[in-house]
Amino acid sequence: MLRSHTCGELRKEDIGKKVSLAGWVSRVRHHGGIIFIDLRDRWGKTQIVVDSKNTSVYSLADTLRSEYVVQVQGTVRKRPDGLENLKIATGEIEVETEELKILSTSSLPPFELEKKELEVDEYLRLRYRFLDLRRGKMWDNLYLRHQVAQSIRRFLSDEKFIEVETPFLTKSTPEGARDFLVPCRLNVGTFYALPQSPQLFKQLLMIAGFDRYFQIVKCFRDEDLRADRQPEFTQVDIELSFVDRDDVIRLTEEMMRIVFQEIMGINLNLPFPRLTYQEALNRYGTDKPDLRIPLVMEDLTSFFEGEDSTVLKGGAENLVFKGLFFPHWREFSRKVADELSQEAREKGLSLSWVRSTSQKISSPLKSKMVPSAWESLLAKFSFQEEAVLLVGWGNEKNLNEFLGALRIRLGRALGMIGENFRFCWVVDFPLFEWNQEENRWDSVHHPFTAPLDSDLELIGKDPQLVRAQAYDLVLNGFEVGGGSIRIFDQNLQNTIFRLLQLDELEIQEKFGFFLEALQFGCPPHGGIALGFDRLVMLMAKETSIREVIAFPKTQKGVCLLTGAPSMVDEQQLEELGLSLRENK
Ligand code: AMO
Repeated sequence: MLRSHTCGELRKEDIGKKVSLAGWVSRVRHHGGIIFIDLRDRWGKTQIVVDSKNTSVYSLADTLRSEYVVQVQGTVRKRPDGLENLKIATGEIEVETEELKILSTSSLPPFELEKKELEVDEYLRLRYRFLDLRRGKMWDNLYLRHQVAQSIRRFLSDEKFIEVETPFLTKSTPEGARDFLVPCRLNVGTFYALPQSPQLFKQLLMIAGFDRYFQIVKCFRDEDLRADRQPEFTQVDIELSFVDRDDVIRLTEEMMRIVFQEIMGINLNLPFPRLTYQEALNRYGTDKPDLRIPLVMEDLTSFFEGEDSTVLKGGAENLVFKGLFFPHWREFSRKVADELSQEAREKGLSLSWVRSTSQKISSPLKSKMVPSAWESLLAKFSFQEEAVLLVGWGNEKNLNEFLGALRIRLGRALGMIGENFRFCWVVDFPLFEWNQEENRWDSVHHPFTAPLDSDLELIGKDPQLVRAQAYDLVLNGFEVGGGSIRIFDQNLQNTIFRLLQLDELEIQEKFGFFLEALQFGCPPHGGIALGFDRLVMLMAKETSIREVIAFPKTQKGVCLLTGAPSMVDEQQLEELGLSLRENK
C-alpha cells in the first residue's frame, strides 16, 4: 500500500497513528536541524517533519526539491503549541518521518505553483498546463465544473430526459460560424464537418419520439475567439416535444434553481425577469444586459421635442435622446464630462450632463431647453446631492450601443455591481437580420427557429418585422444559453430556406435528410442549449472560460501544450487525396 491516508485527511484524533502518505513536495524549509516539508495532493497538504537525528532520512530529505513525488512513513503527532495552522484542515498535526522514499524527481518548474495565476504569464500556464492544474484554484474550478455537470445530469434524469450521444463526424449544422472540416480517407475528396451544435440530430430524436433529450456535448465552431469563446466548447443541449416557449423557460429556470441551490447554496428567485429584445436594447443598449447594475437608460426624447429644441437638434431628424441617471457620483467633474463628450463625438453622438450639488443643479443643457421641459426633466429624476444625469443624443442604434457600454463601464467603476447572480430572459428576437455584405437575409439564431404565430403573415411581406419564438438566457451580462421553438412544418421550413436564398439544390444537399424526416410525423418541439463553460465560469467568478476548461486553446486557436494545430506529413495528405497550395 503506497499510502494509508491522503494529505488532507489527518486530524488531531489521529495523533499517535503510524501512517504512510504520498504526494508532491510543495515546499521545503530548513529550521535548526529539522526539515519541514509541505506534502501536497489533490486532497490537501500535510506538514512532514524530518529530524537530523534520523541521519539517513535527513540526508535524503536534504535533496528534495519542489514537485518531487515522495512517500513518507511516520507517526502523527501534535504540532507544538502556538505553531498550529488553523487555515488548513490538517494544521493541528504533523507527521514525524521514519522512512522517506523518492518516487519521482522533478525538473525545476517554469513558474512557482504557489503564485497567484495573475502573476504568471498565461502562455506559460497553458504551455505547462499539467503543472498549472496542480494549483488549488484550478482544481476547485474543474471540480466545480464536475459538480455542475453532475447536478444537471441528475436533474434532467429525474425529469425523465434521456442522454443520447450524437455524431461528431457529420454534416454542417449552421449556427452562424464556419465549420471545422475533417477529410475522409475512405471517400477521397469528401469531408465531414464537426457539429457546431447537435441541433438537427436532437430534432430528429424528437421526430423519433424520444420526447425528452439532453446531452452534455462538445460543439465546434471556427470563429474569432474571445474570453468567452473557444473553438471547441461544451453545451448542455436539451430538446422536448409537445412544448411551448414557457415550458422550456420554466424547465431551464428550475434547473438553474436546483444547480445554484445544490452547489452554491444560493436561492435564485423564479421566475427570471423577461425582456423583449427591443426592451433590452432600449433600456440596456444590448441583448445581454447585466442586471446587477441598477442603471437603466431612459428615453428623454420627449423633453427635447419642443419648438425651441432646435439648438440641440441642429435641424436633424430622427434624433433620439437618452439618459443615464447616477444617484451618487461624487467624483464627477468637468474633466470627466469633457472626456465622455469627446468619446461620444468620436461615435458621431453628443453628450451633456445635469449635476446636483448641495447648493444647486447645474447643466449646460438648461439654457438650451424650454424652461417647462427643463423643469419636467428635473422632476423625472430624484436629484439628491451629488447626482449626475448623463444625456446623450444621436442615431438610436449608435446611442444604445454607446450608452449601453458606458452603463457597464461606469457601473463597474463606481462600484455599482453587486456580487450576486442576476439571470434574465431575452425573448422576441427578430427572426432575420439583413446581411449587407451578401445582400440577403440571414437567420438571427438558426434557420429551424419558428416565427411567432402572430407574425407568420409578415414573412413574405416584411421579413425584418418577423419575431422569433426564440429566447436567450442571460446571466450577469453573458449569454449563457439560447433556444427556440422549432418549425415542425415542412412547407414553412422550405419557405424559410427560400427566404434565406438557399436554392433548391443547396437545400436538398444540405438539409434533404431533415426535410424528409419532417414528412414522417413531426411533433411540435423546442429546446435550448446552455453554454456550459460560460455558466461554470460565472459560478467560479472567473472572467475567462479558459479558467474552467482543463486544456483550452489560446485566442489564436492554438493548444500551447500539444502544439495543435500542426502540419501533417506528405503521406497523410496523399492518403486523403489532398495537396497544399503554395502560400502566396
Ligand atoms: P447557440 O448558438 O446560442 O445555440 O449556442 C448556445 C450557447 O452556447 C454558448 N456558446 C459558446 N460558448 C463558448 N464558446 C463558443 N464559441 C460558443 N458559442 C456558443 C453560448 C450560447 O448561448 N443549437 C442552438 C441551441 C438551440 O436552439 O437549442 C445553439 O447552439 O452560451
